[in-house]
Amino acid sequence: MKKHTILLHPLGKELVVNDMTPLIDVLHEFGVEFPCGGKGTCGKCQVRLIDGKIDVNEDHRRKLEHFHLPDDRRLACMSYCTSSITLQVDQYEHIILADETDFDFSPECGVGIAVDLGTTTLVTQLVDLTTGKVLAVETMLNPQVKFGADLISRIQAGLDGHSTEMTLLIRKSIGRMIRLMLKSCQQLPGKVVLVGNTVMHRIFSGSDLTPLSCYPFQVEDPGLSLFTPAEIGWDFLSGTDIRFYPSIGSFVGSDILAGIAATGLHRKEQYTALIDLGTNGEIVVGNRDRIICASTAAGPAFEGTNLSMGMRAVTGAISSIRLVDNKMLSSVIGNAEPKGICGSALIDAIAILLQQDLIGIFGEINSGEESIPIDGPIRLTQKDIYEFILAKAAIAAGLTILSKKLSIEISDIQEIYIAGGFGNYIRIEHLLATGMVETTEDKIHKMGNTALIGAKMFLFGNGELAKEILDKTSHINLEGFPEFQDIYISKMILK
Ligand code: FES
Repeated sequence: MKKHTILLHPLGKELVVNDMTPLIDVLHEFGVEFPCGGKGTCGKCQVRLIDGKIDVNEDHRRKLEHFHLPDDRRLACMSYCTSSITLQVDQYEHIILADETDFDFSPECGVGIAVDLGTTTLVTQLVDLTTGKVLAVETMLNPQVKFGADLISRIQAGLDGHSTEMTLLIRKSIGRMIRLMLKSCQQLPGKVVLVGNTVMHRIFSGSDLTPLSCYPFQVEDPGLSLFTPAEIGWDFLSGTDIRFYPSIGSFVGSDILAGIAATGLHRKEQYTALIDLGTNGEIVVGNRDRIICASTAAGPAFEGTNLSMGMRAVTGAISSIRLVDNKMLSSVIGNAEPKGICGSALIDAIAILLQQDLIGIFGEINSGEESIPIDGPIRLTQKDIYEFILAKAAIAAGLTILSKKLSIEISDIQEIYIAGGFGNYIRIEHLLATGMVETTEDKIHKMGNTALIGAKMFLFGNGELAKEILDKTSHINLEGFPEFQDIYISKMILK
């Protein structure tokens, strides 16, 4: 078969590929994002063709025109390599939250491995079970991102026949990370604990994704999934107990189960909440007697998927905005030129625009313009602002409904933990100004990667902690609550 060379700028990498190789198959490893999973609808996988030729069919041409891209741009998801080429690719370095938080444990012998299998990122930590110390860490982008940024794209990819490929990809990647961590370790781990959302769990396990593609989005509870190294293809381990912790219900997975463990809310007398502003916007409220959780449709706006200039918390993303002398001052991740805006800065921008009276409480742009400048070429459109309002209303309504289910008021919740990829960048006063969380500043705590903290806690004992939480936790479908629509609509106001 004919071979071609792809030169990648500014990386200086050279790849040799077969004729007709789809660029989506080779570029995702090098930082090119495919948020819509290659459907040609987001325009965010563009690359610049510096040298050589990439044929453009009618469909591709229409898309390039639709996104107003210059002649030297191509959508990587619609391109094939038919000759040697040189491409310029944007490098998005993901900010991946590892963790060194202390936690309570009863010492055990040996080492264990905790894995946070996220939709976007993967984090593994090698833990000394005698001291609880982290001996090694590995992080990487989930290689499934080439099938799309969000859970819906991954489910669709599964339904389109890519399930096995996604399963093998994820097992191989995590296996590689574990192997790297063990390089300087004299002993093999007794346990590997994995946590992740329900979709990631099913893909890792090789289970059918169909039940998650249609109402009521429920899967039969598989409980704790146990694997041997041979089943997963991790033959470099032997005698290791591999456990993927169970989901709580529907889209609320073991990452939230681990998050509950990390906050300790299952043992507190006072009501406590956990809000994960990640891909799926999960909310948990409860105390030592009873815990309720739900997922919302808030993720896409905070992850940037539904915004004209939105992006995740990666290099080039505006991560925070302050008002200095009546001017918006932004911080950009990696000190780079701003390429877009991520969830934390979106919250800042909305709060500041509201405070400056540039938008009204329904999000309307007061000048009547279609968009508002944020920094350089980065603007928020009227549609972006409405997307934010839908997302914030989903969180606010979720918190209200879970509180009602527990027969309490939101003001009865004494601590609210915020987790999630961009959670650490959030300015709490701005979060409150948008009305997303109706509480006081002193009750909110940013907690980083709660899934990873919990996964480490699950390395100790024999599943008792997870069982204790699961026994008192139930999942509800927010849309099934009779007053859902009324509450949701009432929260579509910025205050
Ligand atoms: S246009 Fe969305 S991934 Fe290519």
